[in-house]
Amino acid sequence: MTNARNLVELRRLDKRFESRKGLFGKVRAMMAVSGVDLDVPRGKVTGVVGESGCGKSTLARLVLRLLRPSGGEIRFDGTELGGLSAGDLRRLRRRMQMVFQDPYSAIDPRFSMADALLEPFTIQGIRLSTAEARGKVEDLLAMVGLGAQMAGSYPHQLSGGQRQRIGIARALALNPDFLVLDEPTASLDVSIQAQIVALLEKLQAELGLTYLFISHDLGLVRYFCDRIVVMYLGRIVEILPEPKASPRHPYTRTLLDSNFAPDPAQRRQIRRLTGEIASAFDLPPGCAFAARCPLADEKCRAERPELATDSAGHASACHHPL
Ligand SMILES: Nc1ncnc2c1ncn2[C@@H]1O[C@H](COP(=O)(O)OP(=O)(O)OP(=O)(O)O)[C@@H](O)[C@H]1O
Ligand code: SF4
Ligand SMILES: [Mg+2]
Repeated sequence: MTNARNLVELRRLDKRFESRKGLFGKVRAMMAVSGVDLDVPRGKVTGVVGESGCGKSTLARLVLRLLRPSGGEIRFDGTELGGLSAGDLRRLRRRMQMVFQDPYSAIDPRFSMADALLEPFTIQGIRLSTAEARGKVEDLLAMVGLGAQMAGSYPHQLSGGQRQRIGIARALALNPDFLVLDEPTASLDVSIQAQIVALLEKLQAELGLTYLFISHDLGLVRYFCDRIVVMYLGRIVEILPEPKASPRHPYTRTLLDSNFAPDPAQRRQIRRLTGEIASAFDLPPGCAFAARCPLADEKCRAERPELATDSAGHASACHHPL
């Protein structure tokens, strides 16, 4: 049963990828997402943060069932997605949408903005009259701060920020409850990033949306999110129940320190000090962070720490929490 508080619940979610090294090489398997248990509360912004390759986009695609999990459950508003027929899943998808890092890749270059904004209706088999279609396009453009004259533009005529606004408008076309935002500002200039974040905040508040907001930038996530989930090599290593909670996991501490080091040279230094990232194909038996962790001891190298949650909802997976 889904808790009424949570719109989305993930239980023991796994995604295994196999790849072959060379044409006749051995097949190697890795867990891009491993044993992820996560609640996404309604009407809140849940942030997911971690370095490149830790499984953020894989998690995003699993949650929307754009990828099939290798194991575990995804419940959306009480419905387990694995048990749905293709038609039921398509209907439910109206309520959950994705905003991508690069909206250019998500929009057909031959589509005008009006075509791009109306495509979700076509996919869902929703017929609109010409007047309804025009009204929808104008409303959606206004919602994301673009003028009605944009309707006839093509992707190459737009700036990065304008394209991302269209990506957001398209995601909102069918009045979803839930948005998964996969690094929606990572490809934009810093000043434009701030505008897009402000727009996303406004839309979330006005429409009462639930967000799963993915980023490699802990500073941004701490500013924007109600709760923060930290991933390392496919696993959740810490959940901060509120954004300013002090990290207990040494990895989160490292992310925070590198974020706030004012000088880029010093930021590089922190990264260098923290050692080699373990290979996801060949994970050590103990804590995956041990090779980079200043607190690592024998126990850390031998025994994998489980994610343990305290009464305040702060979870961490570490034998020697800070
Ligand atoms: N289709 C696939 N087949 C094989 N391996 C994959 C596939 N998709 C992702 N991976 C691997 O799974 C791991 C997690 O990838 P993912 O894209 O989820 O990471 P990420 O956290 O989103 O990284 P980034 O910050 O670079 O976007 C990586 O090691 C990646 O190479
Ligand atoms: S379990 Fe040990 S190695 Fe892993 S983060 Fe904690 S202290 Fe560091
Ligand atoms: Mg990614």
